[in-house]
Order: sequence, then structure tokens, then C-alpha cells
Amino acid sequence: MSHITSQEPVVAIVVAAGSGIRLGGEVPKALRLLDGRPLVGWSLESLAAGGVSEAVVVIADGLQDAFGRALQDAPLPWRLVTGGATRQESVARGLDALPPGDVVLVHDAARPLVPAQVVRAVVDAVRRGAAAVIPVVEVSDTIRQVSQDGSEVVDRGALRAVQTPQGFAREALIASHVAAAGRQYTDDAAVCEAFGYEVVLVPGSREALKITEPYDLAVAEAVLRQR
Ligand code: CTP
Ligand code: MG
Repeated sequence: MSHITSQEPVVAIVVAAGSGIRLGGEVPKALRLLDGRPLVGWSLESLAAGGVSEAVVVIADGLQDAFGRALQDAPLPWRLVTGGATRQESVARGLDALPPGDVVLVHDAARPLVPAQVVRAVVDAVRRGAAAVIPVVEVSDTIRQVSQDGSEVVDRGALRAVQTPQGFAREALIASHVAAAGRQYTDDAAVCEAFGYEVVLVPGSREALKITEPYDLAVAEAVLRQR
């Protein structure tokens, strides 16, 4: 395993090409406003605060002007590329346009408030030699697995919910995505794991919640108020 020096730039792929069906509304989810600023703008702000120096933002076709306006005051350099039909394809399009940098983060634009310390923890783990790093949180609900035969409780203590940004050694992520083309994986760490890389877990944060439904926007507003 190679160790990456702290001088190497950290680059991020921010996937924002989804339509946000579950959230609803007139504009794509990443352009929805949280305290007057689009979610994608918050995401770039959060990544920059955690040490990211440049970003590729993956968007749906035809929205270049709208995203360009949304990112006018972004704290780091960014470029826009067009995404694909699935999140995995959108990440692959982002990889094709990736600026130099040996540490690559993949982040959901839909997680606008990820704390800087989570971003830094992910980056640090890659710099210490991990090929694939995911931030995780414990599951607070009791979970039941349901099937045709009924249901049974699952040991919650052994479960973790996975967040973004996920972090990767550049070559591991690119090689795995190329090999994975045509098969669907649940996230980028799973893509790397399928091709033999170990996945390292670091502590995530409840504040890195993913905006999925209208309720989540209300929670994010509350997080901002108490910051
Ligand atoms: N995403 C993407 N390209 C796709 C699908 C999703 O870039 N083809 C991105 C979304 O923009 C989002 C992230 O992946 O930032 C996580 O996906 P999700 O929360 O499911 O967002 P949407 O797919 O937009 O929402 P929905 O599933 O409710 O339509
Ligand atoms: Mg989706």
C-alpha cells in the first residue's frame, strides 16, 4: 500500500445528476434551497472546509446554466460534467473528468451539511494507506428483516448506516469502476470491495444526513440553526 503525502491535492466528485423524485418540487434536488443557498453549494462549502481543493460536479444534461449560477460563490474551483442514468454511471462520468490528485472523494450533493471533521477523517484514512474509506453511523432504530415467512429482529449493534463522502486512492477507484462497468453496486466502496480492496470505516455524523424527503430539509434547517 502506498502512502500519500499531505501535499497531494484532494479532489472530489459531487454527484448531483439525480432528479429528487422523493423530495418533489419544481427544481432538481441539488438546486433546492437550504437557508437561501442550493444544496450543491452547501456541499462544496462543506467539502472545502474539510480540505478538498477542487471538485467535479456531475449534473443532468441541460442544467449547465442553472448549476453555473448556483455555484457562482463556491469556495473552490469546480467543473460540470453530464451524468448518467444511475448514480454509479454518474460517478464514472465524473472520473472521466477528474483533475489531478491522488485522494478522490465521492460525495452526494444531497448531503449538504457533512461536518469538516468527517471529511478530514476520510481524507486522513486514505493518506494513511487505505484504498477505500466510508463514514458510518450506528443505527438507532430497531430493525426487523421481513420475508414471506414473517419477520425477525436483526442485531442492531452489528449494523452501520453508510454516508458520504467516501474516500479512495485514485487508482483503486478508477480501476474498480472500469472493471465494474455493466454491473450495479450499491456504492463506490462496494465497487472497490468487489475488486479486492478492503473498506475502512471512520466515524460519520448525524449532521451528514441525506436530503431524501421534505422532512429531511426541515431537519437540515434545524441543524443549521443550532450551529
Ligand atoms: N445521482 C446522480 N445520478 C443519478 C442518480 C443519482 O448523480 N443518475 C445522485 C443524486 O443527485 C444524489 C445522490 O446521487 O446527490 C444520491 O441519490 P438520491 O439521494 O437517490 O437522489 P435522487 O436520485 O436525486 O433522488 P430520488 O431517488 O428521490 O429521485
Ligand atoms: Mg435516487
